[in-house]
Amino acid sequence: MTFLGVDLGTSGLRAVVMNAQGEVMGSAQCSYGTSNPHSGWSEQDPALWKVALDQAMGTLRESVEGYEQIQAIAVSGHMHGAVLLDEAGEVLRPCILWNDTRAHHEAAALDAIPQMRDLSGNIVFAGFTAPKLNWVQRHEPQIYAQVAKVLLPAAYMNFHLSAQYVGDLSDASGTSWCDVAQRQWSTELLELGHMRPDQMPHLVEGASIAGTLRPELAARWGLSARVTVAGGAGDNAAAACGIGAIDEGAGFVSLGTSGVVLIARDAYQALPDAAVHTFCHAVPERWYQMGVMLSATNSLNWLGTITGQSPSDLTAALGTQLRPPSDIQFFPYLSGERTPHNDPALRAGFSALSIEHDQRDLTQAVVEGVSFGLKDCLNALRQTGAAPEALYIIGGGAQSRYWVELLATVLNLPLHLPKGAEFGAALGAARLAQAAHLGGHLGHMSMPDVAEVIMPYLALVDRFEAAYERFVDAVQHRKT
Ligand code: XUL
Repeated sequence: MTFLGVDLGTSGLRAVVMNAQGEVMGSAQCSYGTSNPHSGWSEQDPALWKVALDQAMGTLRESVEGYEQIQAIAVSGHMHGAVLLDEAGEVLRPCILWNDTRAHHEAAALDAIPQMRDLSGNIVFAGFTAPKLNWVQRHEPQIYAQVAKVLLPAAYMNFHLSAQYVGDLSDASGTSWCDVAQRQWSTELLELGHMRPDQMPHLVEGASIAGTLRPELAARWGLSARVTVAGGAGDNAAAACGIGAIDEGAGFVSLGTSGVVLIARDAYQALPDAAVHTFCHAVPERWYQMGVMLSATNSLNWLGTITGQSPSDLTAALGTQLRPPSDIQFFPYLSGERTPHNDPALRAGFSALSIEHDQRDLTQAVVEGVSFGLKDCLNALRQTGAAPEALYIIGGGAQSRYWVELLATVLNLPLHLPKGAEFGAALGAARLAQAAHLGGHLGHMSMPDVAEVIMPYLALVDRFEAAYERFVDAVQHRKT
């Protein structure tokens, strides 16, 4: 008996097959791009996701033992995106993604309505789903008039897999239409956002059953026609399931396209004024809080693109010995920022460049700037009462030893590198699929073995604290 976890990421899709003991039997990956037709815009055609899934299934079918015994599938998706469907279930326009900030006026207008933060538990950030729909209403009225359903990316994949309009609560939490405390759509929030309840998918918990795999897909992929499709999750909740961050205080730092510091919570205690996100977890009766920065590894990817280097070559050039803080400051706001600034108009920059600086200095400044942004997220979370003594570290950036040591030093916290970390949200999705198959039983969502604990480099902790304080001051000046 095996389970399939699909992680629909921003830059590609990863699918893993996991056995009943929770071991990964094999995985497949397929990349796709994002289009940025105007400054601040970020879109993807959902057709790309279906093609990527077909390719991944082909690879898994050829290479993975136990593939034919897949019993259940769950999808983790990048959050907040708006997939707009007409009456016939056809996609009306490209999906507007989480890091698209075009709807910042609409977000500010919604956020100014007093009930919004109270009911949704969150700031209406520019990348959230509700302001996107208000933008479409204003700028693409012909499309808006045809919107029969709005699905988040993972819910769209549930529809593709099962023909059912079903989404999960962890993802719905990031729409500004969801009552996160009561774990249901809020009719009041929907009304304030000019949306109707019938335009929303049915909501379930991540480990509940959403439907059954469409017979034509089961036949095409060589699977049984009784494969269960689980509710799934937003990618951060799925990553938390993958790392076993379920109970109060457990959490991780993710160095992915976006940067995230996440802590699981036993109860709902929102603190929108600290610009933290408070969302339903993918498991019942749990929530999580996170600080999100929009351009984490994406800042390094950007430097890689303009220098013609791969991000891993850039970080490899830093060597292995942690250096003292750079003289250069990098402000990692290529797409604006959420935590702690809630400022879609904030922009990136270097300061104090001089003639002797080279590419390696720029790389050092970029990884330091992103690490300071993550410290901002951790400090915002601390305002909620969270007091982590150590965190897991996951995401593509965690492959750079230098960056992980730097981050441990900047955060002044031990970072636990988990075994099998590379499967992150896809493993979490596979665990949700298994839980759905077991009638919601969550016993297997344990914490992974720790491959290594990376301790702060004590000789540099104070110098990085001082550099962080200079960074915070400089950002304040940029904002005013
Ligand atoms: C979370 C967020 C990102 C995306 C992309 O609020 O916007 O982490 O989920 O991964």
